[in-house]
Amino acid sequence: MAASIHHYLLLFLFSLSLPFASAINFLFNSFSAVSNLTLVDDARVEDSVLRLTNDSNYYSIGRAFYPDRLRLASGPGQALSSFSTSFVFSILPEIDSSPGFGLAFVLSNSTSPPGALSGQYFGVFSNATRQFPAPLLVVEFDAGRNPEFNDQDGNHVGVDLNFVESAVTHTAGFYRANGSSTEPEFVPLDMRSGRNIRAWIDFHGPLFQINVTVAPAQEPRPRWPLISYTDPVIANYVSPEMYAGFSASKVKWVEAQRVLAWSLSDTGAAARELNTSNLPVFLPPSPPSSSSTSVGLIAGVASACLAIAFLCVLGLYYHCRRRGKARIRKEEEEEEWESKYWPRRFNYEDLWSATNGFCKERLLGFGGFGKVYRGVLPASISRGADSGGGSAAREAEMEEVAVKCVSHDSKQGLREFMAEISSMGRLQHRSLVHMKGWCRKGNELMLVYEYMPNGNLSQWLFSDAEHRPALAWPARRRVLVDVAEGLLYLHQGWEQVVLHRDVKSANILLDGDMRGRLGDFGLAKLYERGAAPCSTRVVGTLGYLAPEMAVASAPTAASDVYSFGVVVLEVACGRRPIERAERVEDDDWVLVDWVKEVYAEGQLAEAADKRMEFPVAEMELVLKLGLACCHPDPEQRPSMKEVVELLLAAESVGTPVAERNAQQSS
Ligand SMILES: *[C@@H]1O[C@H](CO)[C@@H](O)[C@H](O)[C@H]1NC(C)=O
Ligand SMILES: *[C@@H]1O[C@H](CO)[C@@H](O)[C@H](O)[C@H]1NC(C)=O
Ligand SMILES: *[C@@H]1O[C@H](CO)[C@@H](O)[C@H](O)[C@H]1NC(C)=O
Ligand SMILES: *[C@@H]1O[C@H](CO)[C@@H](O)[C@H](O)[C@H]1NC(C)=O
Ligand SMILES: *[C@@H]1O[C@H](CO)[C@@H](O)[C@H](O)[C@H]1NC(C)=O
Ligand SMILES: *[C@@H]1O[C@H](CO)[C@@H](O)[C@H](O)[C@H]1NC(C)=O
Ligand SMILES: *[C@@H]1O[C@H](CO)[C@@H](O)[C@H](O)[C@H]1NC(C)=O
Repeated sequence: MAASIHHYLLLFLFSLSLPFASAINFLFNSFSAVSNLTLVDDARVEDSVLRLTNDSNYYSIGRAFYPDRLRLASGPGQALSSFSTSFVFSILPEIDSSPGFGLAFVLSNSTSPPGALSGQYFGVFSNATRQFPAPLLVVEFDAGRNPEFNDQDGNHVGVDLNFVESAVTHTAGFYRANGSSTEPEFVPLDMRSGRNIRAWIDFHGPLFQINVTVAPAQEPRPRWPLISYTDPVIANYVSPEMYAGFSASKVKWVEAQRVLAWSLSDTGAAARELNTSNLPVFLPPSPPSSSSTSVGLIAGVASACLAIAFLCVLGLYYHCRRRGKARIRKEEEEEEWESKYWPRRFNYEDLWSATNGFCKERLLGFGGFGKVYRGVLPASISRGADSGGGSAAREAEMEEVAVKCVSHDSKQGLREFMAEISSMGRLQHRSLVHMKGWCRKGNELMLVYEYMPNGNLSQWLFSDAEHRPALAWPARRRVLVDVAEGLLYLHQGWEQVVLHRDVKSANILLDGDMRGRLGDFGLAKLYERGAAPCSTRVVGTLGYLAPEMAVASAPTAASDVYSFGVVVLEVACGRRPIERAERVEDDDWVLVDWVKEVYAEGQLAEAADKRMEFPVAEMELVLKLGLACCHPDPEQRPSMKEVVELLLAAESVGTPVAERNAQQSS
C-alpha cells in the first residue's frame, strides 16, 4: 500500500517536475558576462549590449542564444507548448544608403544551422531555393530588400519557416487606436534609424499561432499585433527542444545590429516586462533634422529660405569686394597636407561667385555624394595662373565649370579622400570628365570639373521632354565606344588599375559634341596591380551591380564590365535596368533577364529600342556583347579591351538600315 502511494507520489512529482525542470523565465535588462549567452562567431557583449556582427570583417555573422534549450513539446509529434518573449533592438547602418541587413529572432535545433550562409540571410538560412521542413523558425526584422525573395520593401517584419522567403510579412510599424474609429491606424516604423525598438513575440503552440508586435521602445505595447500568423504547418518547423536567440549577418557594409534587453518565459505567463527607461541609445552621429510636426517643418523651411537669401546677399557683397581685399577665413585655412595635392586648389570665393553663391538656379543635380552646380569662372582662374600670361583678353574670357559639393564628417576621412582625388586628377583621357581642381571649406569639399553642356546619357534615353528627340543609333553607338575606351584607359592605360565602380547611364555625360564622357570618380578606388583589393565602404547602384557583388566580392575589373554591359543593353533597348513591379507580389522587371529571354526566343533584335532605326546585324552583335558583359560568371566576361574591339567590329558589320517602321505594323 505504502509502496503504491509512493509510486503515485513519484509519478505525480515526476509529472510536475517535467515542466518545472525545463521552465525558462529570464530577464536581461542589460547583458554581461554572467548572462551566460552562447555566443557564436562574431556575436559579443559590448558595453552591456549584445552586438551581433563585426564591423571590420568583410563577411560577418553572429548569433547569440540562451544557453538552455526551450522545451516546446514533450516529444516528436506531441502537442506544442507556448512561450512569450520580448526584446529591445537597434539597427544602425554606417551609411544610410548602403544595403540593409537587419536581424532575426531564431528558434533553432542547433546553434549553427546547417548550410547557413555568412553574409546573407541573417546568418541562419542557406541559399536553398526550396522550402523543406527542418526545425528552424525565424522572425525576421529585415532592413534590406531581396527582390529575388519577393521582399516587398527594405523595412519589414516576417515569419520564416526554414526559408528566407517569409511565410507572412508586413511593413514594419504598429497599430494604434484612431479616435473613435473601430479600425486601428497603422503607424510605420523605420527600423534602420538606430532607434530602440521593442518587439514582442507570442507563440501559442496548441493553436500553431505566432504573433509579432513592434513599437518604439518607450511606447506602451500596442493592443494589436503587427502580424498574427496561424498555420498548423508551423509544427513541421519546430523540434521538441530548441535554442532561442538572435542572429544577423552582413557583407562589407557596416550595420550595427544590437539587442539591448531581452526577456523570455515558457511558463505560460507573459515574458517579464523590460525596463526601457535607462537603455543606451545608438543614433547616427548627425541625426537627420526631420521635424516631427508640420509646424517644425515649416519653421525649418522658412529659416532655410531666410538663410539662403542672407547667403545670396552676402555672396553678392563678397563678389563685389573680392578683388579688393585678401581675406583669410579660418575655415578655409590651408593645412600643410593640402598643399601637396594636385590638381590645384581653388579659392572658395572664386567658386562662390562662379556659382552665384551656390544658388538654386545653378543646381545641375544631385550626384552620389552631393549637389552639383554650374559655375562660370574667368578663364585665367579656371585654367590656373601658371598656364599663360594674364593678358587683358584672357582675363575677360569666361569658362563654364561644374562644381560638385561633397560634405564629409571627419577630417581624417577627408584626408583619405583627398589622396584619392589627387590621383583622380591625374587621369587624363578624352572620354573622362576632366577634373580641374578642388577646394575645401571646413568639412565641405568642392570638386571642380569640366562642364558638360549636354547633361547625362540617362536624361537622353529616358527624359520625357519633347525637346529631346530620341537619340539615333549612330550617336548611341558612338557614346558606347567612347565610354568603353574611357573604361579601358582606367583598367589598363595607367600604371595602376583604376576601377570605376559606379558605371551607369547617369554617370555618362555628354560633351558639346555629344561624345560620351565617363564621370563621377567619387566611388573609384585605386588598386595596385596584383595587390588584393581591400574592402571598402562604398556602394554601386542597384541594377548595375554584378551578381557577385551582392554576395561578397570586392569589386574587380569584371564587375565594371558587368555594369558597362547593363549600360549597353540600356542604350540599345532604351529601357531602364530595373523596372519596379506595380504590385508587391510581382517580381521586378530586370532588363538583363528580359534580353536573355528575347535572345532565347531567337528574336534578339526585337529587344532594341523601337524609337530608332538600326542595322539589324549590328544591333544583334551589340546586344550579344551586352549579354556577354553581363555573364553571371565574372571569368566569362570579356575584358574592356575585347569590348572595345568588338564594338568597333560590330560597326563595320553594317547592313542596310532595317525599315523598323515598316515592320512595326503589328
Ligand atoms: C551561468 O553559468 C554558471 C555556470 O554554468 C552558473 O553557475 C550561473 O548561475 C549561470 N548564470 C546565469 C545568470 O544563468
Ligand atoms: C573583428 O574581427 C577581427 C578579425 O577577425 C578581430 O581582430 C576583431 O577583434 C573583431 N572585432 C570585434 C569587436 O570583435
Ligand atoms: C535536433 O538536434 C538533435 C541534436 O543535435 C538531433 O539529434 C536531432 O535529430 C535534431 N532534430 C531534427 C528534427 O533535426
Ligand atoms: C548555394 O551556395 C553554394 C556554395 O556557395 C553554391 O555552390 C550553390 O550553387 C548555391 N546554390 C544556389 C541555388 O544558389
Ligand atoms: C482614422 O479614422 C478616420 C475616421 O474616423 C479616417 O478618416 C482616417 O482615414 C483614419 N486614419 C487612418 C490612418 O486609418
Ligand atoms: C494573436 O493576436 C490575435 C489578434 O489580435 C489574438 O486574438 C490572439 O489571442 C493573439 N495570440 C497570442 C498567442 O497572443
Ligand atoms: C527602471 O529603471 C530605473 C533606473 O534604472 C528606475 O528608476 C525605475 O524605477 C525602473 N522602473 C521600473 C518600472 O522598474
